[in-house]
Amino acid sequence: MTSVPCDVKDLKPPAEGQLIEIVNGQIKVPDNPVIAYIEGDGIGPEIVRSAKAVIDAAVKKAYGNKRRIVWWEIVAGEKAQEHCGELLPKATIEAIRMTKAAMKGPLTTPVGGGYRSLNVAIRMALDLYANIRPVRYYGQPAPHRYADKVNFVIFRENTEDLYAGIEWPPGSPEAQKVMEFLKKEFGVELRPNTGIGVKPISEFATKRLARKAFQWAIKHKNRVVTIMHKGNIMKYTEGAFMKWAYEVATTEFREYIVTEQELYEKYNGQLPEGKILVNDRIADNMLQQIITRPWDYEIILAPNVNGDYISDEANALVGGIGMAAGMNAGDYIAVAEPVHGTAPKYAGKDVANPTAEILSGVLLIAEHLGWSEVGKIIEEAIRRAIADKKVTQDLARHMPGVTPLKTSEYTQALIEYIESM
Ligand code: NAI
Repeated sequence: MTSVPCDVKDLKPPAEGQLIEIVNGQIKVPDNPVIAYIEGDGIGPEIVRSAKAVIDAAVKKAYGNKRRIVWWEIVAGEKAQEHCGELLPKATIEAIRMTKAAMKGPLTTPVGGGYRSLNVAIRMALDLYANIRPVRYYGQPAPHRYADKVNFVIFRENTEDLYAGIEWPPGSPEAQKVMEFLKKEFGVELRPNTGIGVKPISEFATKRLARKAFQWAIKHKNRVVTIMHKGNIMKYTEGAFMKWAYEVATTEFREYIVTEQELYEKYNGQLPEGKILVNDRIADNMLQQIITRPWDYEIILAPNVNGDYISDEANALVGGIGMAAGMNAGDYIAVAEPVHGTAPKYAGKDVANPTAEILSGVLLIAEHLGWSEVGKIIEEAIRRAIADKKVTQDLARHMPGVTPLKTSEYTQALIEYIESM
């Protein structure tokens, strides 16, 4: 195995590539950018290998020899434990800070004990505050009658809400102290033996996420951005999230935006060409609306917990987790990772579906680096493979009479589609 960096002082990106730079607040991507990758645990190494190969083929198709990605392996999880004696070496975080772009496979998180999520640790360490999850239909077998109408991008806040990890076990001295404080200061009495969690939602974190979502909507000519919240009940957290998101829309993006109220008062219910409708939906309604009226939604802006629920539901509409891509982005750094986990039962068997990892890589290359041609090529290859029934077992089992391809065979098929375009 090639050596992987365990120590910050040994960090040396591959000499044949150049680092992405920030110039005047903009990302400047060289023609041979160094991109870090983490294989991850379980099925991670197989699907990351597949994603790298498919991306390389598409970059070659799009730009010939003019551009290429120089991949740099860094480690986290079991491989890091084995080679560096720790699960998340500081060198890994620093390497991503250097490259500003990374693609990772899934990492194991023990349930109900053991270490905290390495994925969350990476997002927190690099302040990757926006979790961006496109949900698209590529013709795969899907349980929903309107699957072909699904085309969402979910912007989920990544650093706050009940995920912030501010919680204390029932009966603990900390919980007891908080309960005493609430009783003494506010006359709020909780039952004995109550677990307590804190739900922080700030103006700063809400507004920077909203900004990213509106910038995306403008760039991609989306027609609607919907704020998902439960502000009728949680007025000062989710209600505030809604208010701040509207504030960003109507102050920073005024010339692009039409609110729902304006739509009826000024425009007779017809959205003018080139404008973006911003509206909001209460979370429970939103969860059913994307099933009953998926065509009404494009960009969904949500606090952390709502974003978690709706992205799984949305992905289920179009056939599930093997296709579900994601990217965690900060102001200048992005780390792509699929929504799914390590699928331990398939690890090492060459059967997992690499599409979610590939599409996560597409987000990184097409959106973060701005090499959009690569995204178009890969998405078209995936569409053709599915139309020709060349799919892995998770999709094949819903397609009568179809023999599944192995991960490596499916990867090869995608590369052949790309080369023949
Ligand atoms: P999972 O996503 O690994 O698996 C859920 C189901 O989907 C299983 O039946 C699995 O076999 C199937 N599946 C997942 N990905 C697939 C693929 N690419 N192709 C075909 N089938 C696929 O979720 P689970 O079982 O809850 O978690 C397993 C481990 O992954 C846990 O340690 C968990 O903490 C971790 N995890 C890591 C994530 C990350 O690194 N971002 C995200 C989610 C879970």
